[in-house]
Amino acid sequence: MRRPLLAGNMKMFKTQREAEELAEGLASSLSGVKDRDICMCPPYASLHVLREVFDGTNIALGAQNLHWEKEGAFTGELSAEMLKDAGCSYIIVGHSERRQYFGETETTVNKKIKAVHRVHLKPIMCVGETLQERESGSTFNIIETQLTRGLADIRLTSPDQLVVAYEPVWAIGTGKTATTDQAQEVHVFIRKKLAGLFKNKAEEIRILYGGSVKPENIKGLMLQADIDGALVGGACLKADQFTAIVKY
Ligand code: PGA
Repeated sequence: MRRPLLAGNMKMFKTQREAEELAEGLASSLSGVKDRDICMCPPYASLHVLREVFDGTNIALGAQNLHWEKEGAFTGELSAEMLKDAGCSYIIVGHSERRQYFGETETTVNKKIKAVHRVHLKPIMCVGETLQERESGSTFNIIETQLTRGLADIRLTSPDQLVVAYEPVWAIGTGKTATTDQAQEVHVFIRKKLAGLFKNKAEEIRILYGGSVKPENIKGLMLQADIDGALVGGACLKADQFTAIVKY
């Protein structure tokens, strides 16, 4: 009942020319895929390039971050309005790299999700624990805090207004994937918390897994009842790998 979503997070990789080449490869290799949603989130500088290549295809465009204000003197920032204007359907919010290197907090995550909703786009809200937090047994506490604070005062009129991505920080870019059981356990917990916030809509909210997703491990992850897709970093940079992941 939940339509799978496979999303690529290109992070700070590729020039416009390189991004175009990747996008062209994906547009042709994924053209027949109809039963799942596909999204690619390039660096800002390549948004217009991918918009043109993906126009009329089954691949949606996404952004990796935003500012919560509509406009203003915020040098270096982009608003939800601008990203919508640039053709985005999804915006990643609260990625662990933003939390770790750029001072993202539960408060800014909350403001950003509200800004994404202001323009009727879909936020992909990232949550996840560090290795130290997992080893000290606080995984569930951390996830609960991230969800309740990040989603404070947020109302949904439809379940597709929110995508959550569970990304254990220790699994991002490290080659260490959470086991399918570890991931499913946290996904079940996230869905339970979402039910507390959004009642029966939680059953229809998509929860993605992220962290070293590869063609070799996607199938096992997608077999889990509460894993509804993936947020893919490194492996989305190669057309053949991302294609294999989307077609798991
Ligand atoms: P990775 O990144 O697939 O390279 O581990 C995932 C992410 O950071 O979204």
